Amino acid sequence: MAKITTSTLLKMKQQGEKISTITAYDASFAQLFDQAGIHAILIGDSLGMVLQGRDDTLPVTIDHMVYHTECVKRGVEDTLIIGDMPFMTYATTEQALTNATKLMQAGASMVKMEGGTWLASTIKALVERGIPVCAHLGLTPQSVNVFGGFKVQGRSEEHAKVMIEDAQALEAAGAQLLVLECIPAPLGKAISEAVSIPTIGIGAGKDTDGQILVMHDALGISCSYMPKFSRNFIKETGDIKKAIELYISEVSEGNFPGKEHIFK
Ligand code: KIV
Repeated sequence: MAKITTSTLLKMKQQGEKISTITAYDASFAQLFDQAGIHAILIGDSLGMVLQGRDDTLPVTIDHMVYHTECVKRGVEDTLIIGDMPFMTYATTEQALTNATKLMQAGASMVKMEGGTWLASTIKALVERGIPVCAHLGLTPQSVNVFGGFKVQGRSEEHAKVMIEDAQALEAAGAQLLVLECIPAPLGKAISEAVSIPTIGIGAGKDTDGQILVMHDALGISCSYMPKFSRNFIKETGDIKKAIELYISEVSEGNFPGKEHIFK
C-alpha cells in the first residue's frame, strides 16, 4: 500500500471511495491495522476511557498523548497518523501551537481538535505553520459536562443549521478532515455534501465519506458497554486482522453502518 496522506483521503472523497479509520494506542495494534489496509489511525483521547478506565476523556494529558503517539508511530508504515489534542490543550491559539507541535514531533501527521466556529482562527494558525488539522463536531466528548451527558447532538433544525455552518467555517479555516460524532444520519449526509473535505462518521450514518470506530468497540473488548453505532467485528471473524479487513470491506461496500447503527 502507498503512504496515505491528506491528499489520498481528499481524492477518495472525490472518487466516492469510502475511508476506513480506527483508533489505536500502541505499536502492535497499529502495525496490524496498517497491514490490514486501514486508511488512518487516530490516537484518540478515548484512551482515557478504554485504556485508563476513566468515566470520560477529561483527565487525559498531552504527555499521555505524546507517549501513545510515539508508540503507534513505531508500528505504522503507510497509514495516516492523527494525534488527538486533549481537553484544554488548545483553549488558546498559543497553547494549540505548543501542544500540536509535541504531537507532530511524536509522529503524528495531523492533529484533531473538537469545536466549532470558535476554533477557526486556531486552525488557520496551525495550518499556516504546517500542521494539518482534523476538526470534530457533534458529540464532542470533551464537552460532555456542557451537554449533560453523552447525548446525540444536532437533533433540532436550528442546531443542525449551526453545525453545517460550523463545518463550512472549519473548512474555510483550513481543516482537511472532519469527524462527525453521534448526530442524526440525515445531518451527517447534509454536512458531507456541504463541505469538500472528507467527513469521517462515528454514529453519523452511512453517507459520511468514511467511518471511524474505537478499536475496543470494533474488537468487542470495551470495558463498559457497546455503543449503538458500533459493531463487534471479532465476533464475526475470530481474528483481529480479519476483523479489521472485514470492517474495511463493509465500510467500502456501504454495508456498515447498517440501519441498526444509526440515529434518526
Ligand atoms: O478519542 C477518540 O477516539 C475519538 C473518536 C471517537 C473519533 O475522538
